[in-house]
Amino acid sequence: MGKVVFNMTMSLDGFVAGPNDGPDNGLGDGGDRLFDWYFSGDTEVPISDGQMVLKVSARSAEILKEAITSSGAGIWGRRTFDIAGAWGGHPPGTPCFIVTHTVPQEWVKDGSPFVFVTDGVESAIRQAKEAAGDKNVAISTPSILQQALKAGLVDEIYIDLVPVLLGDGVRLFDNLETTQFELERIRAIEAPGVTHLGFRVVK
Ligand SMILES: NC(=O)c1ccc[n+]([C@@H]2O[C@H](COP(=O)([O-])OP(=O)(O)OC[C@H]3O[C@@H](n4cnc5c(N)ncnc54)[C@H](OP(=O)(O)O)[C@@H]3O)[C@@H](O)[C@H]2O)c1
Repeated sequence: MGKVVFNMTMSLDGFVAGPNDGPDNGLGDGGDRLFDWYFSGDTEVPISDGQMVLKVSARSAEILKEAITSSGAGIWGRRTFDIAGAWGGHPPGTPCFIVTHTVPQEWVKDGSPFVFVTDGVESAIRQAKEAAGDKNVAISTPSILQQALKAGLVDEIYIDLVPVLLGDGVRLFDNLETTQFELERIRAIEAPGVTHLGFRVVK
């Protein structure tokens, strides 16, 4: 059985997007800085069915390729789905589970890469695990991580830490109230423009 892992790029002060994020301002004010490392190297990593090609350092490419290979399903929240314009129908990981209160009917059709889950994060993780088989389920948005953490369903947290202070925006570890989570560091890899951190959630 694969693991439930989380992976996102975060600023040193804990934001995954700047303020005022939306469809015309995907990563919010100043937030594009978070993704500079995706486009400033010389090693190509195709994603989204080859619709997008990242250009990262050789070290980061190894890490990204390992994450892609080990992932058997992904889970995102509806805000990211909308902000990303449904990735034009080519999400960064398939099958792609979207947690939402309302199903966008235009994406319910033969060949759609999306599975919409309206009965919560635990259900999404259960369905994604079935689809992933021996591979990992990758969670990639803050609200889903927060709920999965509180439900005790996250095995590992991977953060691509970017040396910038955004000051405001979408905070990754929000809404966790006073719950304390013990983590064991399993990775700390320096690469140009980013530090790849990994933690196991101690249960
Ligand atoms: N830095 C990075 O690596 C990175 C990567 C991806 C995204 N981002 C950024 O992350 C931000 C979005 O994160 P977010 O946490 O605000 O939103 P999100 O997780 O993408 O989506 C939240 C939405 O998902 C739906 N949802 C969540 N939990 C639910 C539940 N239990 N039941 C039913 N529906 C549920 C709700 O939408 P409805 O009520 O409308 O259905 C909710 O408003 C954006 O700024 C995006 O650009 C950053």
